[in-house]
Amino acid sequence: MKIAIMGYGVVGSGVGEIISSSQESLKKRCGEEIEIVSILDLRDFPDSSFKCFTKDFNDILSNDEIGLVVEVMGGTKPAYEFTKQLLLAGKHVVTSNKELVAKHGTELLKIAREKNINYLFEASVGGGIPIIRPLYSSLVSNELTDIIGILNGTTNYILTQMIKEGASFEEALAGAQANGYAEKDPTADVEGYDTCRKIAILTSLAFGKYVNSEDIETEGITSITLEDVEYAAEFGGVIKLVGMSKRVENGAFARVCPVILKKDHPLAGIDDVFNGILVKGEALGDVMFYGRGAGSLPTASAVVSDVIDIVKHKDTHIILGWTDGEEGYLKDPDEQSFRYYVRLCGSSDSASMCREGFNVITLDGEKYANEFAVFTPEMTGKEFNEFKRTELAGYDIRGCIRLVTE
Ligand code: HSE
Repeated sequence: MKIAIMGYGVVGSGVGEIISSSQESLKKRCGEEIEIVSILDLRDFPDSSFKCFTKDFNDILSNDEIGLVVEVMGGTKPAYEFTKQLLLAGKHVVTSNKELVAKHGTELLKIAREKNINYLFEASVGGGIPIIRPLYSSLVSNELTDIIGILNGTTNYILTQMIKEGASFEEALAGAQANGYAEKDPTADVEGYDTCRKIAILTSLAFGKYVNSEDIETEGITSITLEDVEYAAEFGGVIKLVGMSKRVENGAFARVCPVILKKDHPLAGIDDVFNGILVKGEALGDVMFYGRGAGSLPTASAVVSDVIDIVKHKDTHIILGWTDGEEGYLKDPDEQSFRYYVRLCGSSDSASMCREGFNVITLDGEKYANEFAVFTPEMTGKEFNEFKRTELAGYDIRGCIRLVTE
């Protein structure tokens, strides 16, 4: 199988490295050699051992010998047009591009189906963790009902550095960038957009209907402070950025936000660049997936697994995907109930929240002298807004995070 790689960045170079260093074992596993014959990138790589770089997409599109293309360029322009043309030309495509799958996956999967070829995207969610294949294969006998996941390595690394090392947000982000975890524009990581695309893909696949990431309420971690981390710890919890979705009658809830997880929650101990995804199925109960969620070789290993899968089934279309989206399918997330953590400026002495059902926490130390935190009972988003409008009206709110209790 002659293949091409589009994009020679963190993931593309990892794919090149794995394929060139495992020729013999790859041949054993898929029955034929995999040869990289073209690499598309606008940059020059004079020191690379590969000598097949091109800056012209048509070199790949018009090369009839190339049967499979790895698209690891990121973004939708020009990845969408390129992928579409390749699929229409009958070439299999493997990608790690979550933005593209989340936005145009429905159409690209349809083309792959019509052409009896494959568009696989295991590496688009969870880096090296197998999660896409389990959803359309191993778990397919289950009616899946809930997904909650730590889906972004960069933000999990940042939060871990803040929680365990007391690092500032900026220091921790610089570390994630240096390790090759962050997106080119890290706004996509820290504002939650990357997690949002990933939960959109997982939800579409698990519940069978397309969910547009643009319709998912998304909040990142930029407002989380070390003080919030301290109050969460005093409460016995940790702050994590999660994507979560839940199947309900005639639709689903989905949202991305920082949450406090009690320390005994299965996702609470997932630190650094690791991702964890908890999936609930009606027959199976809970199943959890865990591993490195970003970085060159972990992500490239998922890409290469898809390549192998296609080489082994190259005349077969692997059935995966979802039906078209539907107006009203995603429900108003404010109908969902959560407990809330709210950090308030002022004294808790005469606070109305010092009553049954609420936990009020104060911390020692000068910087905590004029503030306290309240953990509310479970309430819907609408009830919480009313609570803020009435009982919290006199307070300056310094922080607010949902708690996930199950
Ligand atoms: N920036 C992403 C992350 C890369 O940090 O998880 C993997 O999708």
